[in-house]
Amino acid sequence: MNAPRARPVPEAVGIVGAGRAGLTLALALRQRRHPVWLWVRDSARREALLADPAIGADPGLRLDAFPQPDWAALPTVALAVPDGALLDVASDLQLRGALGPQALLFHLAGALPASHLEAALRALPSLRLAAAHPLAALPDLLTLAPGPPRRAGLRALKGATWALDGTPEALAALRRLVGKLGRHMLQLAPADRAAWHAAAAIVANDLAALLMVGEAVARAAGVEATAIRAGHLHLAHSALQALAALPTAAPLWRGLTGAVRRGDAATIGHHLEVLQQAALATPNNAPLQAAAPAHQLLSSVLVETLATAQALDAAQLRALRHALLAAASKLSGG
Ligand SMILES: NC(=O)c1ccc[n+]([C@@H]2O[C@H](COP(=O)([O-])OP(=O)(O)OC[C@H]3O[C@@H](n4cnc5c(N)ncnc54)[C@H](OP(=O)(O)O)[C@@H]3O)[C@@H](O)[C@H]2O)c1
Repeated sequence: MNAPRARPVPEAVGIVGAGRAGLTLALALRQRRHPVWLWVRDSARREALLADPAIGADPGLRLDAFPQPDWAALPTVALAVPDGALLDVASDLQLRGALGPQALLFHLAGALPASHLEAALRALPSLRLAAAHPLAALPDLLTLAPGPPRRAGLRALKGATWALDGTPEALAALRRLVGKLGRHMLQLAPADRAAWHAAAAIVANDLAALLMVGEAVARAAGVEATAIRAGHLHLAHSALQALAALPTAAPLWRGLTGAVRRGDAATIGHHLEVLQQAALATPNNAPLQAAAPAHQLLSSVLVETLATAQALDAAQLRALRHALLAAASKLSGG
């Protein structure tokens, strides 16, 4: 009988930065059996990672205080540091002799192209430079308990769409690696990356800001804080689920619910009135101050989108535009 053939061990990957993105990438690669060498600059964080039973005891995950010269043998190194630190980190790796001359070196920044790294790496012209930005809000996995909570955090990366950039040789290698972590990839022109990242910030970070505004409004109305959090998160999930249930080609307005969709101008006018009163009553509350302008502006986006789609009748449209214009004029002091 033939002995079972041993599965080849995938190539090791070096990762600089053990924050949200770096640690998530490291654990996702470990799930795919890649050995990982992780540069964890902060000693307290390194200790905490070593003390974590699911991380510190993993023989396939090396936690380095800094990249040593043996990093130069790694075929792939990822930079998971803040955008402003990329050039310093890249030139630091070069000075330490920690980059092989032909390595694939990629960063995870959404707004920057692969060529951003060139300025720091003039002594290594044959490096294959790339950029790979996963469209996901990645949590700090160290703060999530091992087991289901951490696996749920890792799923954020699994479902992500990745925006890739780089030289043809770099892209070929990058696609092989990223293809193991997720199914959705697209190539983005360098000049388009800032807009891509701005869109990501609107959808992820500004959504969080809207939840903060909603929480402030409900608190000002005297609703208990824990009830608001649970209630609003459920509401946001259900709104997103309604949008996710649409066929991909359907416009988003088809998944819309609420007063604008119903053409209920009196309710929108009433909302804006109470939001303006709440802001006047509590001048030092930034989310509360933003509530009326944000609701006015975003409701206008909905109204005009529905108008273009001819999804409201003429009387509804007139009344909605009138309510929104009246609020805008009050907000600008007119
Ligand atoms: N988090 C996300 O949802 C997400 C999603 C997609 C892409 N990204 C991208 O991933 C990159 C990192 O973001 P992040 O959210 O992971 O940031 P983060 O949580 O703040 O982590 C950044 C990490 O980089 C380390 N670092 C900073 N400067 C360094 C240096 N000079 N040398 C070595 N390590 C250094 C930090 O270490 P210290 O603690 O010692 O400062 C920290 O561990 C960014 O380009 C971001 O656009 C993030």
